[in-house]
Amino acid sequence: MTMKNLFKSFIQAIKPYQPGKPIKEVERELGIRNVVKLASNENPLGPSRKALWAMRRAIREAHIYPDGACFYLVRRLAQELSVAENQLIIGNGSNEIIELLTRGFLSEGDEVISAEMSFLVYPIITQLCGAKFINVPMKNYRYDLKAIADAVTERTKLIFIANPNNPTGTYVNVQEVEEFLARVPKSALVIFDEAYVDFVEAKDFPHMLFYVKTDRPNLILLRTFSKSYGLAGLRVGYAVAHADIIGYLHKVRQPFNVNSIAQAAATAALDDRFFLWRTKRLVDSGRRYLYRHFKKLGLEYLPSQANFVLVKVGGDGDALCRAMLKHGMIVRPMGGYKLPDWIRVTVGRRSQNAHFVRALRACLRERAATR
Ligand SMILES: Cc1ncc(COP(=O)(O)O)c(C=O)c1O
Repeated sequence: MTMKNLFKSFIQAIKPYQPGKPIKEVERELGIRNVVKLASNENPLGPSRKALWAMRRAIREAHIYPDGACFYLVRRLAQELSVAENQLIIGNGSNEIIELLTRGFLSEGDEVISAEMSFLVYPIITQLCGAKFINVPMKNYRYDLKAIADAVTERTKLIFIANPNNPTGTYVNVQEVEEFLARVPKSALVIFDEAYVDFVEAKDFPHMLFYVKTDRPNLILLRTFSKSYGLAGLRVGYAVAHADIIGYLHKVRQPFNVNSIAQAAATAALDDRFFLWRTKRLVDSGRRYLYRHFKKLGLEYLPSQANFVLVKVGGDGDALCRAMLKHGMIVRPMGGYKLPDWIRVTVGRRSQNAHFVRALRACLRERAATR
C-alpha cells in the first residue's frame, strides 16, 4: 500500500493554487532590495489607521479564544448593509466561505459551473469534493451568462460568478444578471463573488445586495476585507444570503474560524470611510495612469472595474514576469488562466506604478533585442 493509494483519487489530479511570489522570497533569491509586489491585488496603502488601533487593543486579549459567532463584526456589518444578522457569516477570508459552500452542498458527481479565465480557487475547491467543474468559455473576456444558464443540468449545485472578474477585471451588467436569474432553477445556488466591488465605476453594475434582500433563497453574495479594506494578511471575508443557507454554512465551519485580531480590525475598518475613499481614488487614478502608458507602449489591455489591469504583452508572459523580477517588480503571469501572453498588474501607489512601467518598458526592450 503506497501513500498514493491512500490519498483520495480525485484529489491527485489537483494542481495547487499558485499565489503571487512573496517579496522576501524574491529579495532572498535575487539578492536585491526594495522589491515591489503588484501581484495579488492587495491594498498598497496598507491597513486603515482605525484597523491598526483596533488590532493593537485586541492583541492584549490574544490568550482568549475568539468569539466564534463574530458578534460585533456581524452586528456592524448587518447595520452597514441593512440586512438581518442571521443573513451573514464571517469566514477566514472569502476563500474559506467558498470552501464551506462546496463542503456543505457538494457530493461526488455533482456539478459546479463557472467561467474559464476566472478565479482558480473555484475549480480547485470543487475538485476537492470530487465534484465536476464545468468551465464555460468567456465571450470577449466577459462571463457569458446565457451560456452558463444553458449549461445548467439537474446535477448543478453551485454557480460561481466573480463580478468584477479576476483576472480580467470585466463585469456583467444588471440586464444580463436579471435575465440570468430568471432562467436559473432554484435547485442551484448562485454565488456572486464581489471581492472587488468597491472599485467599480460602471453605472450599469448590478446591486446584488438588493436581490439578496428581495427573498432570493438561492442567491449568495461573497465579499472580502482583503482588497479595499487592506486586511489581506488577517483573512476576513463574509457571505450574505438567506438565513437558511447561512445556517447550513455555520454547521460546516470550524468553531473559531476567524481570529480575534481580524474580527476587531475588520469591525473598525468599516468605520474608516476616509481610508476607503483614499483607496478608491488611488485605484481610479492608478488605472488611468496604467492605461495611458499601455497605449504609449502599443499594448492591448482590458479596461478594468477592479484594482488590477490585464495587459497583453505578446510572446511568453511568464518569461516577461521572470525578467521583471530582476527589476524588483513582482507581477502575475497568466498561463494558469489560459492567457499565456497576458500579465496582470495590481494598481499600486504612484511611485510603484511608475516603477512597474519602467520595468515593463525595459523588459520589452530587452526581449525585442534578443529576438
Ligand atoms: C474573485 C476573488 N474572490 C475571492 C478572493 C479571495 O479573497 P480572500 O482574501 O477574502 O480569501 C479573491 C482573492 O484574490 C478573488 O480574486
